[in-house]
Amino acid sequence: MALTQDELYRDIDDELSWSERDLPERIRTKHVHRLHPYLGKFVPQLVEILLDRYVERGTGPVLDPFGGSGTTLVQSLESGYDTVGVDVAAFNCQLMRAKTARYDGVALAAEVGDALRRLAAFEAAGTPAWVPPFARDWFAPAALAELAFFREIARDYEHRELLEVILARSARSARQTTHFDLDFPREPQRGEYWCYKHRRTCRPVGTARQFLSRYATDTVTRVATFAGVRPAGYEAAVVHGDARELRLSGPFAGVVTSPPYPGLIDYHEQHRYAYELLGLDDRRSLELGAAERGTSRAAIAAYAEGIADVLAAVAPALAPAAPVVIVVDDRRELYPAILERAGLELVERYRRHVNRRTGRRAGEFFEDVLVARAA
Ligand SMILES: C[S@@+](CC[C@H](N)C(=O)[O-])C[C@H]1O[C@@H](n2cnc3c(N)ncnc32)[C@H](O)[C@@H]1O
Repeated sequence: MALTQDELYRDIDDELSWSERDLPERIRTKHVHRLHPYLGKFVPQLVEILLDRYVERGTGPVLDPFGGSGTTLVQSLESGYDTVGVDVAAFNCQLMRAKTARYDGVALAAEVGDALRRLAAFEAAGTPAWVPPFARDWFAPAALAELAFFREIARDYEHRELLEVILARSARSARQTTHFDLDFPREPQRGEYWCYKHRRTCRPVGTARQFLSRYATDTVTRVATFAGVRPAGYEAAVVHGDARELRLSGPFAGVVTSPPYPGLIDYHEQHRYAYELLGLDDRRSLELGAAERGTSRAAIAAYAEGIADVLAAVAPALAPAAPVVIVVDDRRELYPAILERAGLELVERYRRHVNRRTGRRAGEFFEDVLVARAA
């Protein structure tokens, strides 16, 4: 029998369920949250409320063992906590560092301005010396030359990591792909095409410098905005590694995290251009729940064991009574057993109504919020 509307909405936490109108994209991606696209992040406003509800200040940093693009870290800093993020994906760690570092705004603006002046004076001649395997297919010749030039000059600056994030964001936009398939394009799009997103005929881009220039300016503004809302005295640390192997000393005031889920997203693959552009260490074989491993019974069992190992590694480093808050669409009901296996006790569980309306992944869906503590 189908659920009635009342039954469906019974466990929904209204405070955590926003409509697009309540919380438009511009606000969800405020300041540094929008330094680079990332598929599978949660919203900072959700983290803000979860921190206020559950995590006591002054008892240690907030930990996210699946840090991703750093939403928990950035919000923790804004809410007045120290914070630590772990991720197995090198680009995600670079993003977390770039978002949470403290910058001298004047020095940063001067460096970015200098890099943009050099880019403006650059004229492409011939094929660049650097052409990674995918680049010839995915970038038009002029775009490739401009990206290669920016990649080279980024090395001259103190803010290299942030310039490389600007470079990666620009490379993503400069790929010869359709506008509606930027997340996981399968094949380069070289000619005109009918664009579902813009409802007209579009053509793939030929150059990258317009993106480099626009995103560089946008990044400097976003970093300055975050500096203005971030209280003094709180810092973030980022650990690049497999969270199953964590040996963290703690004590942590709590965990706020959204783990990967089986068969949904390949976290390395979504930023493949960045790995190849920046020559980053690819550790995809250690990714838990990677979509490419599918949802066979064995893949799900390996996923559950992996997440339980991460939580078991975290548990001894928690301050007394510190909460482990997990946001996940647990459609397979895996988490009660995972928590038990990790030695954690589920103390609260509710749902939130997610109103996601981007691209062709339109529609609404629900997410679970689980709160656990050491048993
Ligand atoms: C759902 S995302 C987290 C998104 C994050 N809450 C945000 O807002 O950006 C899950 C993250 O877990 C990471 N991950 C997967 N397996 C991991 C492992 N074994 N150790 C550490 N991180 C892992 C992925 O790389 C991915 O960034």
